[in-house]
Amino acid sequence: MDHFQYRNGQLFAEEVSLDDLAQRVGTPTYVYSRKTIEEHYARLTTAFAACSPTICYSIKSCGNLHLLKLLAARGAGMDVVSGGELHRARLAGVPMDKVVYAGVGKTDAEIRQALDAGIGYFNIESEAEFENIAAIARQMGKAARGALRVNPDVSDPRTHAKTTTGKKETKFGVDIERARRFFRAYGRNENLRLSAVHLHIGSPIYSPDPYVLALDKALSLIADLRGEGYAIEAIDLGGGFAADYETGKSPAYEQYAQAIVPKLLGHNLRVFLEPGRTIAGNSGILLTRVLYLKTGGMKKFVIVDTGMHHLIRPALYDSFHFIWPTRVKPEFLPVRRSAELDLPGLEKADVVGPICETGDVLAVGRMLPPVQRGDLLCVFTAGAYGMAMASNYNAQPRPPEVLVDGGNVTLIRRRETYDDLVAQELTATPVA
Ligand SMILES: Cc1ncc(COP(=O)(O)O)c(C=O)c1O
Repeated sequence: MDHFQYRNGQLFAEEVSLDDLAQRVGTPTYVYSRKTIEEHYARLTTAFAACSPTICYSIKSCGNLHLLKLLAARGAGMDVVSGGELHRARLAGVPMDKVVYAGVGKTDAEIRQALDAGIGYFNIESEAEFENIAAIARQMGKAARGALRVNPDVSDPRTHAKTTTGKKETKFGVDIERARRFFRAYGRNENLRLSAVHLHIGSPIYSPDPYVLALDKALSLIADLRGEGYAIEAIDLGGGFAADYETGKSPAYEQYAQAIVPKLLGHNLRVFLEPGRTIAGNSGILLTRVLYLKTGGMKKFVIVDTGMHHLIRPALYDSFHFIWPTRVKPEFLPVRRSAELDLPGLEKADVVGPICETGDVLAVGRMLPPVQRGDLLCVFTAGAYGMAMASNYNAQPRPPEVLVDGGNVTLIRRRETYDDLVAQELTATPVA
């Protein structure tokens, strides 16, 4: 679901024509829809209402402060994985007790910042990390809460190997057998009270089934731990709900909830969710202009003014993003977003960017309406892991971000300039 829809052959973000918007802010540009982000948050909250979850939006998926503020105003907590993300959460006005902090490489400085802030939970990734956080908390005279990140050894076969995290052989968390030993070793620490279990099995997870499998294992672990006298008060299911990259491929929130919520009821557990992609992904698009058309051997290339430096997912994970012109004749109106659209007159092309890498692709062998230099294309479902993973490779400034709210457009991050690119290098200082 999103509010990027065609009207009379023109693509609109809510009430704003994307052609008009490109005139005003240029390209490439990330465009977010306020209505979409708020509706996703509301639908997710409603679907899971029976277990009253604390929804900790995953900042890593898309961390623009203005979007964080929108979610915080609706009651969201945040999932952070660095001091920088904690800083963003604080600036967005998120209550610190609704912040959970995961990540395998928390530095001492970051741990101190999180302890000072009084975050809700540290999601603990290893024995060594537990000992370090507990020691720092003791030095600071603080008592924090920890959730042990457990690897339930389940995954969704459709999740890319690089974003599967719930298997034994990943760097994240500890396996279930080790979790029991973990609690015996550390479960009675006073500076870091281990009182919750955290899961994050990967992203995107296209079915509720892996959550159910993971939850069964986690609940049985919690029952055992409680049997041994450990007070487990919360479970955090992590993120991973899919976004609508292709029409009809991702389960609705209700489908995830119907499978997950009944399992959670009656255990006297506070529930945390850490969705990122499903909220942000659907809420943003990347608007780009065609620079050149070119052939190479039998291939046709559509060269655009954005690429892997602004949206790395197709190059890194072979991810699918539906790409379509913002202005189309009636016969090319896309009835659904899919790699296999079968309309007469489509032409096969690779959509590529300006970066000096053969891997700089947004789409390979994609059927598209005929396009020409100057046309605008929309890269759909680009709100998550888009701008958040953008770089300045090839000394390319990053695009601006704009928020559409009905008929209003607000610049929420300005376009970078060449001066921004060199700002940290203008002086050279001797290191003492
Ligand atoms: C611990 C943790 N929680 C939540 C998320 C968010 O996942 P998604 O954006 O797919 O919902 C991630 C993503 O990597 C994660 O590592």
